[in-house]
Amino acid sequence: MTVPRHVAIVMDGNGRWAKQRYMPRLAGHAQGVKSLRRCVKACVDRGISVLTVFAFSSENWRRPEAEVSGLISLLASALSREVVQLGKDGVRVCFVGDRQALPERVAAGLDAAERETANNTKLVFNVCFNYGGRWDIAQAAARLAAEGVAITEDSLGSAMSMAHVPDPDLLIRTGGEMRISNFLLWQLAYSELFFSPALWPDFDEAALDEAIAAYGARERRFGKTSAQIQPAAPAKIPV
Ligand code: IPE
Ligand code: IPE
Ligand code: MG
Repeated sequence: MTVPRHVAIVMDGNGRWAKQRYMPRLAGHAQGVKSLRRCVKACVDRGISVLTVFAFSSENWRRPEAEVSGLISLLASALSREVVQLGKDGVRVCFVGDRQALPERVAAGLDAAERETANNTKLVFNVCFNYGGRWDIAQAAARLAAEGVAITEDSLGSAMSMAHVPDPDLLIRTGGEMRISNFLLWQLAYSELFFSPALWPDFDEAALDEAIAAYGARERRFGKTSAQIQPAAPAKIPV
């Protein structure tokens, strides 16, 4: 089976998961961290090279203050708790997003986690936090303009915050909504999209395998015709 090299996930549905259980939304986010830990391990086991997750969007600041600060604390605590195990599993953690708005203590924790796992090679694990696809394009363009570099597809691509990895092959969104919500606008140009009805805390190995199987059945044409990308038929063996 074709396994995608890079899987990106919009981890949605934590709030609904909690609501179904008459629990506070933050309990759903805490369960979401557990689901993410399971997912990282599953990606390593399946030989996926890059996992990119959407943990907090540029627009999530619009949520009630208690939920926003709860999510930031959850990031900080998960980070300090998991970084050693991630290191043992060969996972390199990268934080993608605007760090300037984060509390200094949290930003320092992100830097430390990146440094401590920088030499791991099994899985690149990108955590998009305070990330927005429009922010990413705008910051890349602003950087090129400041440096006086001409804006081309190549220069813009290499100034974007995901320039260290190839574009996602497969985008999964859990929670049933069929939208991008300002995730990787530039990088998803040719990704295969898979929408799972599972709420993120319920998204398990079987659900991941279902998405990978669906990906394996797709024909990626990148603008070409189907005939152009079919493997050449084997030569007939005369009998
Ligand atoms: C996704 O779950 C996590 C974040 C956006 C941080 P939600 O919190 O959006 O869950 P729902 O969509 O309300 O169920
Ligand atoms: C997208 O989920 C952002 C993350 C998963 C971090 P949202 O729940 O914020 O998306 P919308 O608001 O329903 O589009
Ligand atoms: Mg949501």
